[in-house]
Amino acid sequence: MGSTVVPVRVASVRRFLMCRPTYFAVEYAINPWMDPARPVDPMLAVGQWEALRGVLLRLGHAVDLIDPVPGLPDMVFAANGAIVLDGKALVARFRHPQRAPESGAYEKWFRDRGYEVRCAERWNEGEGDHLAVAGMLLAGHGFRTAASSHAETTGHLGRPVVGLTLIDPRFYHLDTALAVLDDEQIMYWPGAFSPASRRRLHSLFPHALRVEEHDAVRFGLNAISDGRHVLLPTPATSLAGRLAAEGYEPIALDVSELAKAGGGPKCCTLQL
Ligand code: ARG
Repeated sequence: MGSTVVPVRVASVRRFLMCRPTYFAVEYAINPWMDPARPVDPMLAVGQWEALRGVLLRLGHAVDLIDPVPGLPDMVFAANGAIVLDGKALVARFRHPQRAPESGAYEKWFRDRGYEVRCAERWNEGEGDHLAVAGMLLAGHGFRTAASSHAETTGHLGRPVVGLTLIDPRFYHLDTALAVLDDEQIMYWPGAFSPASRRRLHSLFPHALRVEEHDAVRFGLNAISDGRHVLLPTPATSLAGRLAAEGYEPIALDVSELAKAGGGPKCCTLQL
């Protein structure tokens, strides 16, 4: 009789870089979620970010900090600053001029700490569009990162890049449409990808968790997983239930203020 065996999920310890949202605001609109006319509570944003950092520390992960820079309200989204693998950092080149000056701050942070640094020459929004899994880097393009950047990404980081075309402007970064759960497993919302990229994902990850649109629009895929615990926004309740049924431990976080800039928990962190 069909008794389902739920796998035991094992956490692995990670190190993340985060940037306190001291100067966080929604002052311009570079994605469909941002509306400068809608009020943001900056103190609440800091509190929500502190709660996220607190959960990561409580789970045993390490969190390094980069100083926020006045006038760069989106710098809290550290995922976009670089892609980091094996002591090498490929520092972002931002598509929008409003975020372009963040690159210099990230470059300095990595150089000061002895990383092997290269600054991207093509549009490249870091870990926001590049997710490492199963020995490769899944790379989203279509809105921010340019497909023409993949060669320099592989060149510097030495990992094969699998390009995936994003087609829905609400899911402008790969990490809003797809999340890595462990070394082999991912979850994603197929509707964010072109038909060819959907086929590619299906052939690479036939057992992936396919997420519903209603969870995806609540930034459910902007999730941080350590292989066991999955930190995701509170409103993505049905996804949390599905993850629990798969043996993961969902941890819900209220990130309402950061969501007004088009982000969730995952894009506030950059894995080192
Ligand atoms: N307002 C930011 C932007 O549009 C949000 C970035 C969110 N980052 C991410 N990796 N999804 O650039």
